[in-house]
Amino acid sequence: MSTPQAQSPAAQELRVRQAEASDLGQVIAIDAEVTGLEKTDYWYELFHRYGGGRTRQRLFLVAEYGDAIQGFIIGEIRDWEFGSAPCGWVYGLSVRNSARLAGVGARMLDAICDGFRHAGVHKVRTLLGRDNSLVLSFFRSQGMMAAPFIPLEKDLD
Ligand SMILES: CC(C)(COP(=O)(O)OP(=O)(O)OC[C@H]1O[C@@H](n2cnc3c(N)ncnc32)[C@H](O)[C@@H]1OP(=O)(O)O)[C@@H](O)C(=O)NCCC(=O)NCCS
Repeated sequence: MSTPQAQSPAAQELRVRQAEASDLGQVIAIDAEVTGLEKTDYWYELFHRYGGGRTRQRLFLVAEYGDAIQGFIIGEIRDWEFGSAPCGWVYGLSVRNSARLAGVGARMLDAICDGFRHAGVHKVRTLLGRDNSLVLSFFRSQGMMAAPFIPLEKDLD
């Protein structure tokens, strides 16, 4: 007989949906857990622009099971920027530490890609830190490959 184990989010009823204002407290806590910074104003401002399904171009999704938010993903469609045809950009993604390696990140990426497809684009891109091997492993596992772009920067005095 097998012993009972804590159920992973993937094993339970995991739901990926549009973020709502009442999710922001948990989103801020997950972001603070991952980045070490609590950016309350930033998240409220971002929700104002991306939350609640206001437009098909901008997506702010959360993964939930029970009444707990396990992670979030943010992205948008940019038209003709960087000289490329309209495509979806994922620029924020985090899963609560205790919910990782259970398929939550993959479910959220699938959901945002579905949203991009419904809005009419057929390519998704992202940008990540060169030394962020965890996020690189994740995106590579989801079929994403190096893109034909080079990021450039300089300090502004
Ligand atoms: C990257 C991240 C979103 C992955 O979420 P997750 O729910 O654990 O990912 P999944 O369970 O869906 O994993 C899918 C695949 O990604 C890869 N992967 C995920 N975590 C990995 C790890 N720690 N090491 C290696 N590969 C990993 C695996 O190939 C995995 O497939 P498998 O479980 O069949 O091997 C999560 O680790 C995270 O939030 N990390 C911090 C993100 C961050 O730095 N955010 C701030 C900047 S945006």
